[in-house]
Amino acid sequence: MPLPKAELHLHIEGTLEPELAFALAARNGVTLPYQDTEELRRAYLFEDLQSFLDLYYGLMAVLLTEDDFAELADAYLARAADQGVRHAEIFFDPQAHTARGVPLGTVVGGLSRALDAAPERYGISTRLIMCFLRDLPAESAMETLRAAGPYLDRITGIGLDSAEVGHPPAKFKEVYEAAAALGLRRVAHAGEEGPASYIREALDVLGVERIDHGLRCLEDGELVDRLVRERMPLTLCPLSNVRLRAVDTLEAHPLPRMMAAGLLCTVNSDDPAYFGGYVGDTFHAVREALGLGPEQLRELARNSFEASFLEDDEERRAE
Ligand code: ADE
Ligand code: ZN
Repeated sequence: MPLPKAELHLHIEGTLEPELAFALAARNGVTLPYQDTEELRRAYLFEDLQSFLDLYYGLMAVLLTEDDFAELADAYLARAADQGVRHAEIFFDPQAHTARGVPLGTVVGGLSRALDAAPERYGISTRLIMCFLRDLPAESAMETLRAAGPYLDRITGIGLDSAEVGHPPAKFKEVYEAAAALGLRRVAHAGEEGPASYIREALDVLGVERIDHGLRCLEDGELVDRLVRERMPLTLCPLSNVRLRAVDTLEAHPLPRMMAAGLLCTVNSDDPAYFGGYVGDTFHAVREALGLGPEQLRELARNSFEASFLEDDEERRAE
């Protein structure tokens, strides 16, 4: 039986497998710039975050209807259940869809249909986190928050993703303040490709409760001390870091060093359809490549529940 775990860093659009992409393309009359799934998979050789994002946003063209989003999420949940996931906090990128003319209600409606069925169908509880694309203007994020008004009963929190360098967290100060006033939880990608100072800024200016990635905190010893002291969760994604070349190899990943330093690390899949594995596969891969023992794997699983937005009683039930 796989270790029960929570997944806290998962972009639902990053679970779009080539087979589903082609099936949706056929259903929706969308022509993809790839002959077949093999050719598409061969394109998954990324230089960095941006080269991945270009392909990732392009493939989203197949996601058009509520059914498409429901199918996408249901396929993820089925795989996650197989890999021991009991709770998933799922990112989605509203602006990547509204910019193509897909209404926010279609996205949230489709995702919610699958998420609502997940406890009974898969034994998985869920939360939805709406991410802003940080390479778009802050006004677009604010407009997206406003547009989400009717769906806030479905949305637990906000996040910040897309191209990091050149788009520091402080750019989104006002929208994070507005979200906090609405009672939304706050997380942000920081320190994936961007510097350690972006992690500090996400904490100090945006008031985030978790850091997504946070890998580059290691370049700032005082920041590491602070993250340890504050028990600030980091949602690490080791397979993503290898594929997007934030680290050279999985064997060189600093996860064991980060755990040994006392950081509250969790292990997640990020965009599993693109990076070679879902979260159970990721646990397996770090065990093999980094020689993590059973106690360290249990620590990672325990951390995932501690770092989640579950209430204490829900946490005990999920674990
Ligand atoms: N969107 C999807 N995956 C991402 C990642 N790893 N970093 C930033 N934005 C993303
Ligand atoms: Zn991510």
